[in-house]
Amino acid sequence: MAKKMWAGRFEKATDKAVNDYNSSLPFDCKMYAQDIEGSVAHSAMLARQGIISQEDADAIREGLLSIKADIESGKLTFDSDAEDIHMFIEEELTSRIGDAGKRLHTGRSRNDQVALDQRLYLVDEAIEVTDLLDELIDTIVDIAKEHLTTYMPGYTHLQRAQPITYAHYLTAYIEMFLRDRDRIEAAAQRANISPLGSGALAGTTYPLDRESVAEALGMSDVTHCSLDGVADRDFAIEFASAISILMMHLSRMSEEIILYASQEFKFYELDDAYSTGSSMMPQKKNPDVAELTRGKTGRVYGDLISLLVIMKGLPLTYNKDMQEVQESMFDVIETIKGVLPPFTGMIKTMTIRKDKMEAAALGGFTNATDLADYLVRKGIPFRSTHEISGKLVHYCIENNTTLEKLSLDEFKKFSDLIEEDVYDAISLETCVNKRTITGAPAPETVKKYLESL
Ligand code: ARG
Repeated sequence: MAKKMWAGRFEKATDKAVNDYNSSLPFDCKMYAQDIEGSVAHSAMLARQGIISQEDADAIREGLLSIKADIESGKLTFDSDAEDIHMFIEEELTSRIGDAGKRLHTGRSRNDQVALDQRLYLVDEAIEVTDLLDELIDTIVDIAKEHLTTYMPGYTHLQRAQPITYAHYLTAYIEMFLRDRDRIEAAAQRANISPLGSGALAGTTYPLDRESVAEALGMSDVTHCSLDGVADRDFAIEFASAISILMMHLSRMSEEIILYASQEFKFYELDDAYSTGSSMMPQKKNPDVAELTRGKTGRVYGDLISLLVIMKGLPLTYNKDMQEVQESMFDVIETIKGVLPPFTGMIKTMTIRKDKMEAAALGGFTNATDLADYLVRKGIPFRSTHEISGKLVHYCIENNTTLEKLSLDEFKKFSDLIEEDVYDAISLETCVNKRTITGAPAPETVKKYLESL
């Protein structure tokens, strides 16, 4: 085992089991690019401030970039007993450029270094996640535009309630995903602040120019308390919670895809390329992508809860427990990046059964409210019209028919104010098209909304 950089005050080498237990290299190696980026910015500033020579800073920069290139070409691998990615890179740097490498860590601690790396990593990944989310939103918007007049039942309690359109239904998810996008961006913005210069916990006596390092790294500010700079991971928790809410939305949509693709609903037919079969039952076509999305939602919630629980009892400032934050944070990122592409593909390729949706909208007395409203317009108070409409529904159920199929004579048995114009008033088209206020399902309203995006 290589000698530890902190071995000065120790008489014994680290136990092999402790070394393995302690090591974060197997997972924090993901942040090699951010670690190098931070070190390049830090060393350049050290030279600007006259803390190290420009020659040393140049050598450090060259060395770090060659390490990055070698990692990316596969020439340099992480099979090392280094304690973490920070030690790994610094050891490698020193073996390549000698003493100049040992000057890199001046005025810095791994405590502020790891906080920086995690923030930079999260900001980079957030961009990838929002790009993937944008593809999903664009896909849904395109589909919605084609279904402005595809009627379907809207549900409450999973009982048919009132007629809407499929485009209107989809705008619900567009709204949710747009808010998710905002939340992810806001979390990334709050993470994009440099803790470098916090040192181990109490800052440093070197005249560091923290602001210029933040600027070089594209960060919007520096942290304003060194203790907080090394001790908090709320940025990771905030990101995980934004992703958890996104997963909740994806999971609800998944649940509906599973239902709507069932033989009982038949609103959707999933594309063969996005469904799976059964090893035993030849007829099966299963919505695995939607089910896995629903399942992975639980996994991301687990990560969020892990993060909250890891952090909740820690005294200020740094504690090694915080190393555990990384794996949960990485898992959130990997999971959402794995979820979104197949989910979008499934949505893009599934067949929307307009006929089945419309038949369902016609079938469930979803126009009963509009019948009551029709009678309100004839001067009857709503509470009474609600009852009349309810009695008519009951009559239809008894006689195995629907409201729009009743004759005028039948209608008149319930209220002699009902006239020929009732048929127009309770048609599916009228029920939907008259709902023109902002947020309502009328095709012109939904079209305007979709165009505004
Ligand atoms: N691998 C460590 C982590 O992720 C880096 C910081 C180590 N700091 C320390 N004081 N031991 O937390």
